Amino acid sequence: MFYEETGVQNGKIVIFLHGFPFDHTLWHETARHLDDSWRLIFPDLRGFGQTQLPVTQITTMSQFAQDVADLIDRIDSTSRVVVCGMSMGGYVAMHLARNLANRLAGLILCDTKAQPDNEVAAQNRKCRADALPETGLGALADAMLPNLFSPQTGNTIRETVRSMILRQSLHGVAAADRGMAERPDATDWLPGFSMPTLVVCGEQDSISPVEEMKQMAERIPNAGFATIANAGHLPPIEAPEYFSLALKYFLDDID
Ligand code: MLT
Repeated sequence: MFYEETGVQNGKIVIFLHGFPFDHTLWHETARHLDDSWRLIFPDLRGFGQTQLPVTQITTMSQFAQDVADLIDRIDSTSRVVVCGMSMGGYVAMHLARNLANRLAGLILCDTKAQPDNEVAAQNRKCRADALPETGLGALADAMLPNLFSPQTGNTIRETVRSMILRQSLHGVAAADRGMAERPDATDWLPGFSMPTLVVCGEQDSISPVEEMKQMAERIPNAGFATIANAGHLPPIEAPEYFSLALKYFLDDID
């Protein structure tokens, strides 16, 4: 599994899981604002970026979570780590919070949701995945981009995200899309998350809206909740200064 690492070698470990259909570069701007106290790890999930793990027809969220659990063991087999997951990365982070709680010092859930796809959404995803070899990543980017950003987000960022989508593997993207269609309902897991948790949401996120994320935070014992101004679905790249500030306050309190 490929990962980029920044920060300080003996700092607390924070692992950042990107969303769909992106890669670890989604976090580049956030890393610039955070890298003075923590050991920051930015993996590419299976089928994305530079990770070369084999991809079958479907990559389930639990497969992604197993890959990340293996990575955590490889990096440090004893310390507890903070996991920060954005959207699809959040689905993976919730699997880790449920199944690997003893290794998690903290959890950050950004612009994600606990509910599964309804039947129509799941079917649409599967059709999109099956059609992807013909329609291509350009069509996927065209369909997704209008829903990703706050109106204030400028063209340079929009172009960066478009290029990120275009350089992913068709096969990896389709497999993850099928995996998300089958992801379980994590709503009942939330009250069991006993590690310190922060829920973060872009103020203009139309995919995981503030009201829904607030309800999600309310189901997690003692979770903090932060909204990020001038951001839609992608605060780490749309508003990295404010996003990383929210993370800093949270991380400073973690043992
Ligand atoms: C993401 O950003 O990872 C996607 O919005 C997740 C999804 O399609 O459910």
